[in-house]
Amino acid sequence: MSELLVEMARVTKTYRGVHAIRDVDFDLRAGEVHALVGENGAGKSTLCKVLAGAVQHSAGELRIAGEPVNFRRPHDALEHGIAMVYQETSLVPTMTAAQNIELGHEKLLTRFRSLNIGAQQLLQSMNFHVDPTAYVSTLGAAKKQMVEIARALRSEARIVIFDEPTASLTPEETLHLFTVIDELRAAGLGIIYVSHALEESLKIADRVTVLRDGERVACLDAKQTSRDEIVRHMVGRSLGTARAAAPREPGARRRRVLEVENLILGTVVKNMSFSAYAGEVLGIAGLIGSGRTETAKIIAGALKRNRIHGGRVLLNGKPVRYRVPKQAIDDGIVYITEDRKLDGYFETMTIAENLYLGQLASRRGQWWLSRSRRRALAKEWSERLRIKAINADAKIVELSGGNQQKVVVGKSLVADPEVVIFDEPTRGVDVGAIEEIHQLIRRLADEGKAVIVISSYLPEVLAVSDRILVTRFGRTVAEFSRAEATQEKIMYAAIF
Ligand SMILES: Nc1ncnc2c1ncn2[C@@H]1O[C@H](COP(=O)(O)OP(=O)(O)OP(=O)(O)O)[C@@H](O)[C@H]1O
Ligand SMILES: [Mg+2]
Repeated sequence: MSELLVEMARVTKTYRGVHAIRDVDFDLRAGEVHALVGENGAGKSTLCKVLAGAVQHSAGELRIAGEPVNFRRPHDALEHGIAMVYQETSLVPTMTAAQNIELGHEKLLTRFRSLNIGAQQLLQSMNFHVDPTAYVSTLGAAKKQMVEIARALRSEARIVIFDEPTASLTPEETLHLFTVIDELRAAGLGIIYVSHALEESLKIADRVTVLRDGERVACLDAKQTSRDEIVRHMVGRSLGTARAAAPREPGARRRRVLEVENLILGTVVKNMSFSAYAGEVLGIAGLIGSGRTETAKIIAGALKRNRIHGGRVLLNGKPVRYRVPKQAIDDGIVYITEDRKLDGYFETMTIAENLYLGQLASRRGQWWLSRSRRRALAKEWSERLRIKAINADAKIVELSGGNQQKVVVGKSLVADPEVVIFDEPTRGVDVGAIEEIHQLIRRLADEGKAVIVISSYLPEVLAVSDRILVTRFGRTVAEFSRAEATQEKIMYAAIF
């Protein structure tokens, strides 16, 4: 048996008297990957943050390499060789990638050039294509994650914690990351790996610990367990696999709400054309980088198409061109983003306040709500989306990652929009909540809204859509009805 790097015994963390984790036992050996799984709010991030010194535990014992420790800040954990890649990015947006990677390691006289060269080598060794001189604020979600990972590895840790590292990575980038993790394991490091992608966790991990409502319910050998067994431990019941909703009447006449004609943006979006109908879910599949997100952002006023010959967007037959998202929201078009930290919510406000802001952002909703009405609104949406918080006045920062995502969704929907565009709607939400969000998407269509779902996860596209578009290199290249669509056909269209 290899050396025990981490031993946690009966570790408890409470927030304002409520348990985030309770009496949890957990250990990690040198040369192993230990996966941590559980529903949104189960306590995974909390356990990791205790270990990384980002929060202090309320009770219990923590030993690193046999030595009892009590971390007061992340720096203490770092000194014991523990580095963490956070679920919500912790980078400084106004600094470059290289500066972020070197943060806390700067020698007094690191020259700008050598700083960049060092960061470049590190990024390259992991096959991460990020320009070290780029400001973090200009990087997309995937690249930010890469910088975050590089920063953790820069510190030459013996224990590395990954909290949902693959949520914003492409399949190829995920494979890269797995190679990197394999190398770290081979080098004798201990890895803690948190992810909602259970198959993925099983593939990479040696052991799997399952948390439910803050308690450890199982610690399993990855070779001897299965996805289904893990899910049973997670939710305390079996879940069906995503089942397709009842197909709608074929050829039913529907009202065309949104038309997109020959949309063009630089080299990313080229002649994108499609329509969305009331009462229908339109799925958009395609590889990451095929122009789907940019198209959605143009429609929603978050990006500007080419000034001349940039194409047209028509809402109920009328050409529209938004300069800012506010205008689109006023017209009843909302875009629910994958990059929730950036444009999703105000994190120091409560759920009720965020939902109220969602209401205010739209001219369609009532602009004034009494306090009790606001509370009722928060209650209604917390129930609809099953948002789990310690109490009704919890601030967004106090929610788990997956529950924050649900608030973003709720905030966009309170004002009762006519067109709803979801971009990767279930990234970071647990298996049980995925089903809920899919049902919500179907229900929105049943209520008569035009719903567009951009997703890189094909089973998701197949589960929710009435019609499926496939994009490649900024164009739509294929369209399938629900009846004709299969994973193979979509993949084929997306790649060849
Ligand atoms: N700073 C905080 N203040 C109050 N409560 C908190 C705080 N951080 C987390 N919690 C609560 O602790 C519980 C566990 O949260 P945690 O973030 O550990 O969950 P998680 O398993 O990582 O979930 P997810 O899969 O959604 O990321 C949740 O109920 C959450 O609301
Ligand atoms: Mg978390």
